[in-house]
Amino acid sequence: MTKKVIVTGGAGFIGSHVCDMYVAEGYDVLCVDDLSSGKLENIEQLRMKNNFHFVHADITDKERMMRLFARFKPDMVNHHAAQKSVAASLEDPNHDLNINGKGLLVLLSCIQKHPIDNFIYVSSGGALSKEISSNEKSKEEDRPQLISPYAITKYAGEKYLAVYSQLFQFDYTVLRYANVFGPRQIPDGECGVIPIFARNVLDDKISTLMTYPDMPRGCTRDYVYVSDVAEANRLASHNPANTVINIGSGKEVAILDIYEAILEAFGKEIAITISGPRLGDVKRSVLLNDRAKEVWDWTPKISLEEGLGVLAANM
Ligand SMILES: NC(=O)c1ccc[n+]([C@@H]2O[C@H](COP(=O)([O-])OP(=O)(O)OC[C@H]3O[C@@H](n4cnc5c(N)ncnc54)[C@H](O)[C@@H]3O)[C@@H](O)[C@H]2O)c1
Repeated sequence: MTKKVIVTGGAGFIGSHVCDMYVAEGYDVLCVDDLSSGKLENIEQLRMKNNFHFVHADITDKERMMRLFARFKPDMVNHHAAQKSVAASLEDPNHDLNINGKGLLVLLSCIQKHPIDNFIYVSSGGALSKEISSNEKSKEEDRPQLISPYAITKYAGEKYLAVYSQLFQFDYTVLRYANVFGPRQIPDGECGVIPIFARNVLDDKISTLMTYPDMPRGCTRDYVYVSDVAEANRLASHNPANTVINIGSGKEVAILDIYEAILEAFGKEIAITISGPRLGDVKRSVLLNDRAKEVWDWTPKISLEEGLGVLAANM
């Protein structure tokens, strides 16, 4: 029988690639998005398909969401909708709590009334990193630093999922993404460094590098290409892990290395301005991806250089 999945945030950067995957796999897909950062053009092709439906709705609107669940009767929820910026969460923690906290609770109350089999919750490996020493990688069981409201709400969401899955008998997977990059990413938010640099380089504009005195090449991050992330969602849909799984490359890359790789991909030479660190940012982040390999045999297929090459060719 055809599986029905609600994808929240499905018109966003990552969510739209996840919708592409579900439609190609033959799922019946209901994409729920308030278009606060998502775009209809991301799902334009999908809207011609019979197994894809779009509803413009806010996940914090409980009555509306209850009606959608009652009508669509999903087997699965794939929750990508979020306030996704560390900086914005510091500026407006209430907004962050409303979308990331209340939004999740609304979905959990919908599935109490309309039971599902499987819930995929998207979290952040970068924001939830612990303070790692050199050569160390973040493991799923580490105690996170929790130095921003965004990290707190994402972590709380992981814990809600673990408890509610037991109480209401459904399978779940928490996917902790590294910094995801690829087509349709917009230059904003938590993980926008690649599109921000790429846009600046294309427009011959000078970019800014935020550094710490002991990290002159900037913070480090782990970058994973969006098609590899969509594949992890496919695997979590078929074979829920009932635990947290890191989805990253396992490679630690400094922001200045990213900038240089982008210059290389675009064949340009533009200087960069140095500035101080940004509040709430984890200094170093790289994810151990052994669990994804063990549970699903998942490993990233697209390297940073390959991914940047695709972006450069399409901008
Ligand atoms: N981009 C990354 O590198 C990265 C890394 C770690 C985790 N994440 C997580 O992945 C998810 C998707 O992020 P993204 O980078 O694709 O961002 P995005 O902004 O492109 O996607 C978020 C989507 O959620 C929608 N949305 C926001 N609030 C909503 C609401 N109240 N009701 C309905 N829809 C709402 C937005 O319109 C947008 O389409 C988020 O949960 C984010 O925290 C992203």
